Amino acid sequence: MTKKVITIDGPAGAGKSTVSKALADRLKYLYLDTGALYRALAFKALKKNIDVNHPGELAGLCSVTDVVLKNINGKMTVWVDGEDVGEKIRAEEVGLAASTISAYAVVREKLLSLQREAGADGGIVAEGRDMGSVVFPDADFKFYLDADLEERIRRRCGELACRTGGAEPSSVSRDMRARDEQDTNRKIAPLAAAPDAVIIDSTSLTIPQVVEKILEHLSGASVSGKP
Ligand code: DC
Repeated sequence: MTKKVITIDGPAGAGKSTVSKALADRLKYLYLDTGALYRALAFKALKKNIDVNHPGELAGLCSVTDVVLKNINGKMTVWVDGEDVGEKIRAEEVGLAASTISAYAVVREKLLSLQREAGADGGIVAEGRDMGSVVFPDADFKFYLDADLEERIRRRCGELACRTGGAEPSSVSRDMRARDEQDTNRKIAPLAAAPDAVIIDSTSLTIPQVVEKILEHLSGASVSGKP
């Protein structure tokens, strides 16, 4: 059986990463975190003091920056100018800058073909904001994962506590509201559910429950990790 392209879009903190990783694991598919690509460019922009609101500066950044996706033992990793950016891109500050630069066409164009190449052979769970609407419009299965803002803030605080030792809930709330606003209202490839996406509200669901719900949808089409 051919391996499918599965897309999972949704706002920050809706549980997309955890769900997508778990799903990819269950199906023995690759997990593609497209936010990491935007974060990687934003990380370099911040490091180089580039104005993340200046299209000319961003065009310059894109033209001199080498972004590569490498499949290392089944794990997709993002490399910038020959360096694996790993966990460095996970700070909230980088997420917010990624959201800002992702509104610019020059940035989205630079990253588009990388994402499509990664999914070209199928067998992928692609997570982001425009996976089902723009990057993989012909995906076999599209999901849009949502949750109430308060719950998303609570989850992000928990995640940051694990990763970095913690963050002020008030600043997480401010950053998340700003990201929602930017990601939803930008002109190019805004955060939106594709018309043919299955919408799942995860507010009162656990991660395993969301994964099971998705697997139920797939089982109708007998998608499995087995060749
Ligand atoms: O998923 P994330 O929080 O790591 O993404 C960081 C930012 O990158 C997000 O706020 C908007 C942008 N992004 C995007 O515009 N399109 C995607 N497919 C993925 C992320």
